[in-house]
Amino acid sequence: MEVKPVPDPEPTPGQELVQVEAGGINFADIMSAQGGYPGTPKPPLVAGREFCGIRVSDGQRVMGYIQWGAFAQRVAANPPLLWPVPGGWSAEEGAAFPVNYFTAYFSYWKAGLVEKSPAGTTPRVLIHAVAGGVGTAAVQIGKLLGVEMYGTSSSEDKLTRVKALGLQHGINYQQHDYAEAIKELTHGEGVDAVFEMLGGEHVTKSVRCLRDFGRVIVYGAATGQPALVDARILYAKGASVHGLWLSYLSAKRELMNQAWQQLSAWMAQGHLRPLVGHVLPLEQAPAAYRLLMERKNFGKVVLQLS
Ligand SMILES: NC(=O)c1ccc[n+]([C@@H]2O[C@H](COP(=O)([O-])OP(=O)(O)OC[C@H]3O[C@@H](n4cnc5c(N)ncnc54)[C@H](OP(=O)(O)O)[C@@H]3O)[C@@H](O)[C@H]2O)c1
Repeated sequence: MEVKPVPDPEPTPGQELVQVEAGGINFADIMSAQGGYPGTPKPPLVAGREFCGIRVSDGQRVMGYIQWGAFAQRVAANPPLLWPVPGGWSAEEGAAFPVNYFTAYFSYWKAGLVEKSPAGTTPRVLIHAVAGGVGTAAVQIGKLLGVEMYGTSSSEDKLTRVKALGLQHGINYQQHDYAEAIKELTHGEGVDAVFEMLGGEHVTKSVRCLRDFGRVIVYGAATGQPALVDARILYAKGASVHGLWLSYLSAKRELMNQAWQQLSAWMAQGHLRPLVGHVLPLEQAPAAYRLLMERKNFGKVVLQLS
C-alpha cells in the first residue's frame, strides 16, 4: 500500500464530487488489499468504501458509500448513497457511519426484529465481534429495539467497554466456548438470531446457538474460511441461514431509503453515534489496516485525509 498522486475522478452525469475529509476502514478493505474483493477491481486501486467530506456543489458535509476510491482527496459519488452528516458530528464520525449502521440495521431486518416484538417477549441476539465497527453499531440499534444482546470478543477490556454501550452479556471466546456460554446464559433455550461474520465452522456452531425458528444472518468470513453448514441441521428447529451483503443491498434504492428513514430518526433523537476507536493519518494506512487484522481495534478505525 502506498500514498501517491492519482488523477481526480471524473464524475459521470448525475454524480457529485466530494472533497474527502476522512475515510472509514472496513474488513472488506483488508480483503481487497489481500488480493481482491467481489465486485471490486483487483489491486492496484484506490481503496476505501466509505467517506465523509464536503460536497463540492453546495458545500454541505456529507457521508457516503461507494465500492472503492474513498481514500483519496476527491471522490465521485452517487447521490442516493450520500447522506447529510448530523450537526455536531466530526468528519471521522461521519466516515464511520454508512457501512456499519446500514449493515447492522439490515441484520436486524433480516432477523425479522425491526418491528416491535409481541408484548411480553424480549428477542435475544448473539453478535459476533461485538466490539468492532458493525458490532458496536448493532449494540446501539439493539438497545433501541429492546433486544437482549449477547456478544463475543477476544478481549475482556473490549467487552467491558462495549457493555457501557448497552451490551448485556459479554462472552470472551478465548476463555469460553461461546455455544456453551449461550446455552448456560439462556437456560438451554438459545437465541432468536446470530449475526455471523466469522465463516467456516462458526456458521454451524451459530445455528446450534439458535432457539426454534431462529435465524443466522451471515455477512462475513473473517476467518477466511467459506461457511460450512449442512442444511439438515436446520430442520430440527425450523431454523434458517440468511445472507447479507451491503454491496448488493445498496443498489436497492427503496430498501436503503427505508433504512435511512429509521436510522436518521434515531440519529435526530441523539440515539446513534458511531464509536470511533482509532484515527490515523492516511500515511499510516498500513498500521490502521493491521489494527483490524490483529484484532486490536475497538469500534471503528478511521483515516484522516485533511
Ligand atoms: N456483508 C456485508 O455487507 C458486510 C458489511 C460490513 C462488514 N461485514 C463483515 O463484518 C465483519 C466485521 O467487519 P468490521 O469492518 O466491522 O470489522 P471489525 O469488527 O471492526 O473488526 C474485526 C474484528 O473481528 C474480530 N475477529 C474475529 N475473528 C477474527 C479473525 N480471524 N481475524 C480478524 N478479526 C477477527 C476481532 O474482534 P475481537 O478481537 O473482539 O474478536 C476484530 O477486531 C467482517 O467479517 C466484515 O467482512 C460485512
